[in-house]
Amino acid sequence: MKKIMVIYYSQTGQLKQVVDSLLSPLAADSRFSIDYMELRPAVAYPFPWTRDAFLDVFPESVLEMPIDLKPFEADYSGPYDLIVLAFQPWYLSPSLPISAFLKSPDAAGLLRGSRVVTVIGARNMWVKSLERVERGVESLGGTLAGNITLTDRALNLVSAVTIGYWMFHGKKDRYLGVFPKPGISDADIDGAARFGRVLADALISGRTDRIGEELDKLGAAEINDSLARLENRAKKIFEIWAKLITKRPRIRRLLLNLFFVELILGLVILSPLNSLLGIALKSFRKKATRT
Ligand SMILES: Cc1cc2nc3c(=O)[nH]c(=O)nc-3n(C[C@H](O)[C@H](O)[C@H](O)COP(=O)(O)O)c2cc1C
Repeated sequence: MKKIMVIYYSQTGQLKQVVDSLLSPLAADSRFSIDYMELRPAVAYPFPWTRDAFLDVFPESVLEMPIDLKPFEADYSGPYDLIVLAFQPWYLSPSLPISAFLKSPDAAGLLRGSRVVTVIGARNMWVKSLERVERGVESLGGTLAGNITLTDRALNLVSAVTIGYWMFHGKKDRYLGVFPKPGISDADIDGAARFGRVLADALISGRTDRIGEELDKLGAAEINDSLARLENRAKKIFEIWAKLITKRPRIRRLLLNLFFVELILGLVILSPLNSLLGIALKSFRKKATRT
């Protein structure tokens, strides 16, 4: 019997749907047992979000300051053959419940000596948050065996509008009847089961060291170069704002509102410029390889 532990947080349930689809081949197979550990913030975040609440988690998310989590509902007895750590980025950083978990004594106990597969459900900017989670896992003595990322496939600006509609109105449907549905598509969620088969085969054959390679072959986490470039730049700017805001608690609201203005301007101006730069770079590279 191969033992799997799933550690996850999912505010709307989207990431839990991804995890359920991913693990469906293992859940239906008596050779596997799966324990679920849901991370529950002591004070739940509102859904739908208000603008103030959404902005308020920005500095602490970026600086990865731990929040209080509710005690776990069960005693989890390891060791586990595989740990699945499912998280979402908030402001290009691991979401607050995941940052808190990685800094908790429970994480140290569970992750030491374990192979970990991360599962990310994001809008489209997740690379920096994965770097941080990988560092967290490794500093606790775990090994990142592979990563699976599912994202919203709409254009950056379009998905910013639709996720805004989803987060602030609580409805995962087509905004104004014309925009695409927000979030990860149903087809992509269903398709996650093929990555689960990789995990099952690796566990049965004892080759969990090859999970990363096998997942990569299936394109389990494709990086969009142009978005990664934008994310890199934005992350540095976010860190400056986050430090400034936490150092000036008396004018926190004002600074958060200024940050929000910059965020919107960045999205509307920098994001399309960045896409154009990406297209130019691609065609330049194509020409260079032809000559
Ligand atoms: C406060 C906040 C910040 C977010 N920041 C990002 C981000 O930086 N990059 C990204 O791709 N998605 C971002 N998202 C979207 C989430 O990663 C996630 O896809 C969405 O919240 C649904 O996840 P759930 O499974 O927790 O419901 C953000 C969501 C929230 C609520």
